[in-house]
This record gives sequence, structure tokens and C-alpha cells, in this order.
Amino acid sequence: MNKVQALSEVMAGQPSWMDGHSIRVMEYAVATGKALGLSAKSIETLRLAGLLHDIGKVDTCASVLEKRGGLTNSEFELVKLHPVHGAEILCKSDTLLRVANVIRHHHERYDGTGYPDGLKGDFIPFLSRVLYVADAYDSMTADRPYRKAPGKDYAVSELIRCSGTQFDPAIVMEFLKIAGSLPFGQEYSMDCLASLPPGLNFKKPV
Ligand SMILES: [Fe+2]
Repeated sequence: MNKVQALSEVMAGQPSWMDGHSIRVMEYAVATGKALGLSAKSIETLRLAGLLHDIGKVDTCASVLEKRGGLTNSEFELVKLHPVHGAEILCKSDTLLRVANVIRHHHERYDGTGYPDGLKGDFIPFLSRVLYVADAYDSMTADRPYRKAPGKDYAVSELIRCSGTQFDPAIVMEFLKIAGSLPFGQEYSMDCLASLPPGLNFKKPV
């Protein structure tokens, strides 16, 4: 699938690549944003950024994304391009420019050693920092077809261990307050898909 096809699937409401991970990340990010007292506009941006954060992976081959075990350096370099590709896809739509910027920076680490731009601390867009925590938590708590998740206890300990280096500590602290009430790996609500902007009316994936 190329970038134009990916964007047209989004605009048609039928993104074939969207899965439970995208929806859970959206839910976790929105729940965290609400706990942080963010504005309705920021919550809506988080909702879309959560849903669409992996759209750039349409440019990454499945054999790399679903590989068991570690990636080679060159494979990891390919994976690291997905925030840039995602932002490139979404910035073609005027209504998604802010979402595109959040997605571009959702792998920037708080200590400045992340990608793609090596932004540090408060220079990383705040919503990208929220999305990074939500994405990491789901990656550690939800099984994938190609690997078993380490689990919730491990995820919480990793968020704490990496607070201040990988993640914004203030966001981790807020996330951990709500983590106990989050679903992980099994069920998610589709209610949050009901009020998307025109042209972004997602259908429930089967
Ligand atoms: Fe990502």
C-alpha cells in the first residue's frame, strides 16, 4: 500500500491496517489527556493521533514488523521511519496537520535520544509525550499474533524505570493513576469513534 492509498482509506473510513492496538492506544491517550485536564481540542487531537499513529507503517514490510526476536540495525532503521511517513501522509489533509505533528514526534525520548528529530524534554510536543506513554503501555500489555506480551506488572515497572529518560515523568505519574482501570489486551469501546471530523467516520474493524 502506498501513502496515497493509505490516506484515501482513512478518508473513506476503511483503513485496512487499523487494529485493536490503534484503538487501545487512542483510549489510553484520551484517558490520560482527560486526567491531565487537557482541552477538548487537545483531547480530539489525541483521539485521532492515537488511532492513526501507526499509519506510517504502511511503508514498512510485514516481515520486519512481525519479525520474532530482535531486529537488525538496518531493519530498525526502516521501522524508525514510520513517524515521518505517518506525518507525511496526514499533512496532505489540512484538518490533520496538528495530528501529523503529534505523530511525527511520538517516538522522541524525554532525554533527547529518540527519533526522528532527537527532541528533548519540553521541546517534544506535549501530546506526542502522552501518546508515547500510551503506545508503550499497550505494546507491553497486549499480545500480538507474533509474540506474547510481557504483561501489566512489567509494563508498569518499565514506565517507572524509564520515567525521566524515555518518558515524561509527569505524564507517567498521571498515567499510572488511571492504569489500574484501563482495559488491556481484550476489550475496547467503539463509542469514541462516534464523533470524528467529517470524512473520518471509522467503521468497526472485523
Ligand atoms: Fe510508533
